[in-house]
Amino acid sequence: MQQPSFFKTLTQMSLKFLPLAVVIWFIVAWFELPRSASWGFAGVVMMYAFLLSLPPKKKTEISFGKNIRFKLPIIFIISGLIWVLAGKLGFPVWWQIEFVAFAFVGLAFFLLLDIRALKPEKSKLNWIFRLITTYALASGLFITITAQLPQFDPQHEIEKLERPPLKLSGLAGPEVIAAGREVFASNKCFNCHKVFWEGNSDRGPNLGTRQIGLYSEDYIREQILDPRKDQAPGFEDKKSKKAMPTYYEEDLSEDELSALISYLKTLRDPTHMPVEGKFPNQWTWWDDPKIIAEGKVVFEGFQPATEGLNCAVCHGKEGIPMMTGALDFRNAENMDTEKMPDRLDGVKMKDWPDALWYKRVTRGIDGTPMAPWGMIFQHLYLWKAEAYVRTFHDPLDKRTEKRPVPPIPTKEEIEKWKTDGLFLDPLL
Ligand code: HEC
Ligand code: HEC
Repeated sequence: MQQPSFFKTLTQMSLKFLPLAVVIWFIVAWFELPRSASWGFAGVVMMYAFLLSLPPKKKTEISFGKNIRFKLPIIFIISGLIWVLAGKLGFPVWWQIEFVAFAFVGLAFFLLLDIRALKPEKSKLNWIFRLITTYALASGLFITITAQLPQFDPQHEIEKLERPPLKLSGLAGPEVIAAGREVFASNKCFNCHKVFWEGNSDRGPNLGTRQIGLYSEDYIREQILDPRKDQAPGFEDKKSKKAMPTYYEEDLSEDELSALISYLKTLRDPTHMPVEGKFPNQWTWWDDPKIIAEGKVVFEGFQPATEGLNCAVCHGKEGIPMMTGALDFRNAENMDTEKMPDRLDGVKMKDWPDALWYKRVTRGIDGTPMAPWGMIFQHLYLWKAEAYVRTFHDPLDKRTEKRPVPPIPTKEEIEKWKTDGLFLDPLL
């Protein structure tokens, strides 16, 4: 047999790849996967197509030991590369595992192809049998691995179907919130929405870091029942607009919806400004012109938007304090108040962490007219006012860079907010 030229190999490979490319394109389009997914798939398939097209070196059969000794290191390198690349492209860890599993299925495939034949093959049937076994083994391995992934648990699905309808009568506080969390999980909200560190994809906003709990119950209800009405910032593209299902009005009972909203109302972060936008193109409220404009309304106390809240009566509309002792927001060098025992020493206002802003404005400063506004006014207003206040010493139009988006809080951090009493009652 003549050795095919490299060019011929490449042509053959392209021909083999063409139908696969079509299939990949369909998968990516159908599941609305990010474009990077198609490159990931294509890369792996191309690599195998190339390896398959390589001309055999020698006609001799190799032992199983030799067979695996040569291929195993390669597969480990490839798997490592796939893992890192998928991680860099922002795939969830289960996807990374699945990609690597895919690479190992390939390994099994190549091992079987080169395995020593037990008998010399005589008939065509033998050849077909070998191919079918290889295919069956490879598919078997792949199915076994994917069956281990969490999204496919038939038992769990059946249990969900058999669950009695939620009845809220007699339930209160934490029980309703826990029931609402169940509603969230069983209606597959996690498939598109993360809640802080939990969840499967970033198709919709992370309802934790976006702090959906800051919004009114009416707003949340409306967004669930009629998701096409308003788009979350950064989700104005056509795909995101159509993504959220519109059938929840039929699917959820009134009790389920109330519980769901109670749960969503708890999703807040007392240590960071809300984060907007579609991952990874995100920003915080510190740099959001729309929020800052709304913050101005809060700060200046235009009625009725802020229900009587008015920071300017003391801090001054232009940032020139109207009351002696009130903080002057024009001076970026200001330090934290000396009147609180948990004073943050030696940090200038321009570098204050979000948590300090939130704590001082919601809790107030003991023995001064700076009252615990968080006990009276909606925290949605307070964060907005803080975002605006910053512009007195750091005007929006002079900023050269945005504040970094904070890392997603971990499970342990979230537990700590509760034990440290960072949340106020009632939840406003
Ligand atoms: C198939 C994906 C998908 C599923 C499933 C889904 N959502 Fe959404 N959701 C989105 C997308 C995308 C957006 C952003 C676009 C928009 O605002 O409509 C969104 C927006 C929202 C918003 C508004 C956010 C805001 O700040 O304006 C809420 C609240 C919400 N979803 C709650 C839920 C709840 C509760 C469930 C489950 C009962 C759910 N979603 C299921 C994709 C989904
Ligand atoms: C009734 C008057 C009054 C109102 C209204 C008021 N403040 Fe203050 N604020 C003060 C005074 C006085 C201080 C200085 C307290 C001190 O350190 O002695 C202060 C201090 C602050 C500080 C500094 C905290 C620190 O760590 O030193 C911030 C931030 C602040 N106010 C934000 C706001 C915001 C935002 C609003 C509106 C939601 C607001 N204030 C409304 C009187 C007021």
